[in-house]
Amino acid sequence: MNYLSPSILAADFSRLGEQLRAIDEAGAEYVHIDVMDGAFVPSISFGMPLIQSIRPCSGRIFDVHLMVEEPIRYIQEFADCGADMITVHAEACVHLDRTVETIREKGIRPAVALNPATSLSVLEYILPSLDMVLLMTVNPGFGGQKFIPYSFEKIRELRHIIEERGLNTDIEVDGGVTLSNVEEILKAGANVIVSGSAVFQGDISENVRRFRELMK
Ligand code: DX5
Ligand code: ZN
Repeated sequence: MNYLSPSILAADFSRLGEQLRAIDEAGAEYVHIDVMDGAFVPSISFGMPLIQSIRPCSGRIFDVHLMVEEPIRYIQEFADCGADMITVHAEACVHLDRTVETIREKGIRPAVALNPATSLSVLEYILPSLDMVLLMTVNPGFGGQKFIPYSFEKIRELRHIIEERGLNTDIEVDGGVTLSNVEEILKAGANVIVSGSAVFQGDISENVRRFRELMK
């Protein structure tokens, strides 16, 4: 199954509730929520109070992407404010296994994200413990960047590893995804698609419908 996860980083925060309803009604299955701490990535976005206040606006899966140093410090708080899935960066966790286990213990689906230049080899032992791997296809920190072309090979390699090991881990792709490259990304083996600017610029409902059409 393929899933669309619009990133609200590109939304109009003054109309967030309304825009969440628009993506929901147009059929996006997930809501991608980018939390940035100004340390792991250069920028600061938003945190728990925002997630808590938008939780009643959507029944969709809250896919929380933590671009935060040592996210283990905040797992309980993100669980409390309504996360369904929590993604942590391998590069940001000294104790990645403990962090993933902590997420799982809270009844939340754990995922690990890798920056573009991080090797898939860091997943070797942790992969069976994950529901999803997020491959960053831009350097994290900002929306609206260009997809890094070598990522296609990385997606294909990860899909190959997952199949070879008989797992059913989802592969989420995040950064620079548009209506023009989404089919190639799916073909490479991704099945969860994050998109910020390509969803929230212009007619949101129409953008979601177009993505879903290409993702069938
Ligand atoms: C980048 C974030 C992305 C971002 C994607 O650090 O993790 O989720 O919002 O935005 P677009 O789709 O505009 O590249
Ligand atoms: Zn993200």
